[in-house]
Amino acid sequence: MAKKTVKDIDLKDKKVLVRVDFNVPLKDGVITDDTRIKAALPTIKYVLDNGGKAILFSHLGRVKTEEDKAGKSLAPVAKRLGELLGKEVTFVPETRGEALEVAVANLKDGEVVVVENTRFEDIDGKKESKNDPELGKYWASLGDIFVNDAFGTAHRAHASNVGIASTGIPTVAGFLMEKEIQFIGDAIAEPKRPMVAILGGAKVSDKIGVIKNLIPVADKILIGGGMTYTFYTAKGMTIGNSLVELDKVELAKELLEEAGDKIVLGVDVIATSEFSNDTPREVISGNIPDGLMALDIGPETVKLFSGILQDAKTVIWNGPMGVFEFSNFANGTIGVCEAIANLTDATTIIGGGDSAAAAEQLGFADKFSHISTGGGASLELLEGKTLPGLAAINDK
Ligand code: 3PG
Repeated sequence: MAKKTVKDIDLKDKKVLVRVDFNVPLKDGVITDDTRIKAALPTIKYVLDNGGKAILFSHLGRVKTEEDKAGKSLAPVAKRLGELLGKEVTFVPETRGEALEVAVANLKDGEVVVVENTRFEDIDGKKESKNDPELGKYWASLGDIFVNDAFGTAHRAHASNVGIASTGIPTVAGFLMEKEIQFIGDAIAEPKRPMVAILGGAKVSDKIGVIKNLIPVADKILIGGGMTYTFYTAKGMTIGNSLVELDKVELAKELLEEAGDKIVLGVDVIATSEFSNDTPREVISGNIPDGLMALDIGPETVKLFSGILQDAKTVIWNGPMGVFEFSNFANGTIGVCEAIANLTDATTIIGGGDSAAAAEQLGFADKFSHISTGGGASLELLEGKTLPGLAAINDK
């Protein structure tokens, strides 16, 4: 990677500010998925093992008003981190002020402080999310070095990532940031071929940038999920009550023209009359009749996609093939997971968000080379955009 990492800097006796992405799902105060906390451990441990004192910053959810703060404290996250590290973690329920400054001043080598949710600063003028320079400067003043390991937040230019880095404090990437950029970046910049992208999800509008960026790069782009039907409409097919973005049909036509035979659409679907797991369903090939909506790709499409995938050396997958949360419409997503899981000599990457959740829920998570911890960030990387959080890290 062209950016400096924690390995390029002396951490001994240093107060190390570490931006992590601990934006984890919580239900009634209980963390339901701690993947992001585990993913940050290598960097945190490295800082501690090399004599640094770690001061951790993260956001959790979106906070606009005082009421939004309920259930968004990082306290349960700090507790879970302590369990995973097997050591005491000091949680400071403030984002600035004396309590924080004292906790930082009292830190000894190898100790950890977790600062309260950085977006609690958004209540008063969106200081975090609008990258208020005074806030970035204040946070930077608490440490000697800044390690940005929050890949999931790298597409945001906020005070706790870009703001701190912009003060001139030495800024390096953590191991998670490095790994994410290497996997996704290399897969686009120098893919082993054939390179196959599988794009799904409900909306074409969410994936336009990705499709455009991947047309010149990928050997095949397989399209599944709800966005298929905007492409069907673009081809003059009927779609019944299936999902469609009518204002994107022209664009879908242009993408089909530009991509030629690179874009591969499904040939059949599983359709039903209502958005429900339990209504009778049928396999429809080609045009979808009135009264039916497609909620998954069909068995012939799974075969078609699996056949294309079987020779792939690089696979990037973003977006489920159907409504996988409904067991009767999960087979398309399962089929694609299976086809990827069978590849023995390929780099296989899931671009975060729903597809990561699907792979996890369907039991395929350990079959992929890399599952990104970033939803929006990985999409923007696939779109070829510069991530501000990454750009603000010092070059090697
Ligand atoms: C994410 O979950 O994608 C990141 O933590 C960023 O969160 P945000 O979309 O609320 O900025």
